[in-house]
Amino acid sequence: MIRPAELIHRKRDGAELSEVEISELVLAYARDEVPDYQLAAFCMAVYFRGLTPTETHALTDAMVRSGETIDLSPLGRKVVDKHSTGGVGDKASIVIGPVVAACGVPFAKMSGRGLGHTGGTLDKLESIPGFRIELSGDEFIRQVQEIGLAIVGQTADLVPADKKLYALRDVTATVDIDPLIASSIMSKKIAGGADAILLDVKVGDGAFMRTLNEARELARTMVELGRLAGREVVCELTDMDQPLGRAVGNALEIAEALDTLEGSGPPDLTELVLGASAHLLDLSDLGVDVDEGRRLAEEAVASGAARELYDRWVRAQDGDPARDALPRTPVVRPVPAHASGFVQAIATMDVGLAALHLGAGRTRKEDAIDHAVGVVCLAKRGDRVEAGQPLADVHARDEESAAGCVTEIEACYRIGDGEPERKPIVLDVLS
Ligand code: URA
Repeated sequence: MIRPAELIHRKRDGAELSEVEISELVLAYARDEVPDYQLAAFCMAVYFRGLTPTETHALTDAMVRSGETIDLSPLGRKVVDKHSTGGVGDKASIVIGPVVAACGVPFAKMSGRGLGHTGGTLDKLESIPGFRIELSGDEFIRQVQEIGLAIVGQTADLVPADKKLYALRDVTATVDIDPLIASSIMSKKIAGGADAILLDVKVGDGAFMRTLNEARELARTMVELGRLAGREVVCELTDMDQPLGRAVGNALEIAEALDTLEGSGPPDLTELVLGASAHLLDLSDLGVDVDEGRRLAEEAVASGAARELYDRWVRAQDGDPARDALPRTPVVRPVPAHASGFVQAIATMDVGLAALHLGAGRTRKEDAIDHAVGVVCLAKRGDRVEAGQPLADVHARDEESAAGCVTEIEACYRIGDGEPERKPIVLDVLS
């Protein structure tokens, strides 16, 4: 029997706990045998003292063992998955899935909902009329077998310890702690069953990781956790100092995902999608390298195969894949530039929050989302704008919320003289 108070005390004083102690603490918490207040104190001790690699591995392993795991071996193929640490306007999975599947590689993904200012793939998919995010384990495997692609919500039985712990961390200022983020993400990816995983670690103002060094540290931890679980992991570190693409808001992001699948998406999103797809094809059992993977991904978009696969996938999950079926708002208002010059910076987290205030995200877990509302950032970092020119369009339910959002978005844009340095979308790759 572990004594939680003693473990908290020792962690607070900087001691390393044994694998058994960590594991028992987490599993007892998942079984409701340790109260929230003790786990909250433990997480705060971890914030100040950290976890060693052995402790982080023990934590991840215990989280995986807290519930069911998915066995994808009946597919008889090497299955790939992709995960982003969360950002603003990140609809990449909705494009990457169909591209990779159109190249003949099975893609099986469990996604999450929006967290704070960041959007969630499930919320975006639910803006497609009829789209069903809940599939049984058998349906999930059958769909990957038949179509090559399924993106679903995490079932209640998969990593229940993370579900509980995440909700607790969210309200106790203990989300942004490297070993806790790494174990939270990797436990879900390991339990999800894929053999190879591409992680997109977002860096910048709109991400949980603010600096490249912090992101590298997190990426190294996750690659190592994957290796210890027998999974291949590649981490891309990508720019989140401005929204990805232009659209921020659920249905607007689906429309932009469709543009990208049709070859007319924004340059940064297109580049991220093709680069990530190339890595996933390299990780797959197709026997191609990254360069050939990139060529295949480009071809899947150019030939229309990726868009066709999207249609089949969405129909398989009971959704209507037509662009016209997406919900729209009655009000669209421009955000005029307050000065002429170059866009120097966009306060990315604030753009995410402005969209959330419009109704695109939640402030409480039980809040309903307005799938149609959001912001389209027409001007991106480095663009030249003239005073009065629209920087963005606000898609709102009514004039009052539109006016509030226009003011918020205007404040997100910093315009000045001199062209700022261009930054690539992919900042580094680790494996
Ligand atoms: N995403 C997760 O799934 N977990 C975290 O802790 C942070 C981001």
